Amino acid sequence: MSRVQASREYRPIGIFDSGVGGMTVLRALLQRLPAEEYFFLGDTARLPYGTKGSSTIISYSLQAARRIVNSTPIKMLVVACNTASSVALPTLRSEFPHIPVVGVIEPGARAAVRATKNGRIAVLATEATVRGGAYVDAIHKLDPDARVVSQACTLFVSLAEEGWLEGDVVEAAARRYLANILNAEERPDTLLLGCTHFPLLQKAIARVVGEGMHIVDSAQTTAEAVTEILAGRGLANPSPHQGGVHFMATDNVARFAATGSYFLGRKLSEQDVELVDI
Ligand code: DGL
Repeated sequence: MSRVQASREYRPIGIFDSGVGGMTVLRALLQRLPAEEYFFLGDTARLPYGTKGSSTIISYSLQAARRIVNSTPIKMLVVACNTASSVALPTLRSEFPHIPVVGVIEPGARAAVRATKNGRIAVLATEATVRGGAYVDAIHKLDPDARVVSQACTLFVSLAEEGWLEGDVVEAAARRYLANILNAEERPDTLLLGCTHFPLLQKAIARVVGEGMHIVDSAQTTAEAVTEILAGRGLANPSPHQGGVHFMATDNVARFAATGSYFLGRKLSEQDVELVDI
């Protein structure tokens, strides 16, 4: 490796998710930071994380992150999974003290606090994210007076994985999950999609909630946070060329590539993905 390539700013950004969902974050990063190189790992063998207990999520997250770090020296780790971010971030930060470790919770909370006008926010997430309360804490750090309700929407993950992004089934599930939120006396005006998969169902969710509800997700604000951290630490890749993505999955690369294409918004083929064991 040449001296230039060896310097830190040319190193890739590591990014992992429990599966393909984190590609919504990768997509935002590719738009904002096209010169960067990315190593993306989807832990498809163990998906979903969102219904697991905390210690299992922490150990899976550590293994996924270690697998990336053992493949290549990275300059930053992005935890593109809301569940892993909400449960495993402190452990990941102490495991990798030499690099910034960025999660999606704080950026998502920031997006919601920016969007709300009436100070009432509904968080839709996985069971583990709701149980951990990380979004509620992050929102209250930014606005201690905000009223937050959280709702686990477990089926949304499977619907997105199946590619059922619109139609009767998705809308029926959304109506049921959102019933209490929509009928609340103090109705929130902002819906935070606190799970990587939920932005794919945004059209159907928007149809169910109707006009006047802000729908936000953490993908864009996470990409903003990554951009700020890279710039602040002099770690942005100065290359004038387009970077690339090295994809890894722990199981069924064909399904990972096919479903990943929805999330990434561009065609991904099986040959683009390395099958890895962790
Ligand atoms: N990636 C997870 C999240 O954002 C959703 C899928 C899962 O449960 O593993 O919470």
